[in-house]
Amino acid sequence: MEPRRVAILISGSGSNMVSLAQAMTGDFPARPVCVISNQPDAPGLQKARDLGIPTDVVAQKDFAGDRAAFESALNQKLAPYNVEAICLAGFMRILSPQFTKGWAGKLLNIHPSLLPKFKGLHTHSRALAAGETNHGCTVHHVTAELDAGPIIGQARLKIMPEDTAESLAARVLTLEHKLYPAALKAFLTDRGVPVLIDG
Ligand code: GRF
Repeated sequence: MEPRRVAILISGSGSNMVSLAQAMTGDFPARPVCVISNQPDAPGLQKARDLGIPTDVVAQKDFAGDRAAFESALNQKLAPYNVEAICLAGFMRILSPQFTKGWAGKLLNIHPSLLPKFKGLHTHSRALAAGETNHGCTVHHVTAELDAGPIIGQARLKIMPEDTAESLAARVLTLEHKLYPAALKAFLTDRGVPVLIDG
């Protein structure tokens, strides 16, 4: 069977994009066909080019709050790649219900918390403040409601007494790099079994 064609959307360093791209080789059931950023200066764009992946930009600043126009431009950039799934990887932009509906069932995201806990931003400091003993990251379907779509996989670690938000972010990011490829594979092979990694 032909590997599935996956687009990866980024906004920043693209470390999750790199770990996904490096996993999508050999008998992995997908290949990265493009990396698109909403930030023209995203460092992840050069990393994608270094990996030989076509890149494109839909600059957020060119659409000054016109979400529909931004998303229409994004879909136009995606069209030539005949994409079968989209992985949001550090993509820091909320997508409209129209966009998420258009890609329903093919749009994945990685979020740095054990959803449904700590939706939104600053997840590591919030987990510490809440006195959590466990923390981690989640790969989920993207739906109209922020960070609330069906969960595909999670990776979990123990919060250590000496952890800070920074040390936790670094430890969770390492788990993200393991989880996302495993979750994407489970999603594509339709195992339907949630992926759990205990870090
Ligand atoms: C990661 O913590 C990810 O969970 C969040 O964005 C951060 C940066 O990701 N969504 P990356 O290095 O750009 O992949």
